[in-house]
Amino acid sequence: MTLEEEIESLKQQRNAVILAHNYTRPEIQDIADFVGDSLELSRKAAECRAPVIVFCGVRFMAETAKILSPESTVLHPNPYSGCPMADMADPDAVAEYREKHPDTLIVAYVNTTAATKTAVDLCCTSGNAEKLIASLPPERKILFLPDANLGANLNAKLNRHMELWPGCCPTHNRIMPEHVLAAKEKHPDALVLVHPECLPAVVRLADRALSTGGMLKFVRESACREFIIGTECGILHRMQKENPDKAFYPLEPAVVCPNMKKITLEDVLFCLRDMTPEIELPEDVRRAAKAPIDRMLKALP
Ligand code: 13P
Ligand code: SF4
Repeated sequence: MTLEEEIESLKQQRNAVILAHNYTRPEIQDIADFVGDSLELSRKAAECRAPVIVFCGVRFMAETAKILSPESTVLHPNPYSGCPMADMADPDAVAEYREKHPDTLIVAYVNTTAATKTAVDLCCTSGNAEKLIASLPPERKILFLPDANLGANLNAKLNRHMELWPGCCPTHNRIMPEHVLAAKEKHPDALVLVHPECLPAVVRLADRALSTGGMLKFVRESACREFIIGTECGILHRMQKENPDKAFYPLEPAVVCPNMKKITLEDVLFCLRDMTPEIELPEDVRRAAKAPIDRMLKALP
């Protein structure tokens, strides 16, 4: 039996579903029941009634699945697959900020740990951040965390003055304006799509700044045939598979999230066989972390 066949047979035995993020390895995306961006995966987890969810993505995403689907056993195939940006907003530091600034609304990008989510008012993802922030009263003081690039891009787009936490994604921060200029020169007919976690100077040069799910939708619907892609390279697998007649050029080949790549087929096989590592959260933390996610899902169902 191949690894894939063994996984399929164990998946049936366990009655499990496999959810995977758009940045995971191609072979992981190929065995998943659903591949998506953070928002789509949160929605899937919220409606998932499967007894076992194998979550192939970084830890905060698997935690979100557990928060929204507490009855399910959520397996995270590689416990070392974390998100360095999520770790840049320490829950104690956020709680301390909250105590000092009781009138400020704290909006957290979903790329935060469950512990940090317990100290914030509202969550957002790159797929809904613009709509969500635009729906908040303009006079309201807001702290946006932990991604200063996403926050600055939202401030520029919406003419807001949110205070920004000093965090960033080390992977997206590698993309520089000169990479965009060079790629445009090489592929003059291509549209440039970047993730809003990129530096504002990069976003200003792009045709669109979109979540990974937003990019996939855009390329599917666009009449354009060539695209320069400014985000983690894992997304190219799905893009090319879904649009065989279109061409996709990575903006910078070194845009790799090492944490997303940590999850291998062997990890998935072993976690289904041994039913570990499992995401476990104390119930009080899970409930408190759920509140800002629920507000997000309620505001923009
Ligand atoms: P998406 O929600 O756009 O998939 O982004 C998640 C992420 O971690 C980007 O680095
Ligand atoms: Fe975190 Fe960046 Fe990796 Fe996304 S790409 S999971 S933000 S480190």
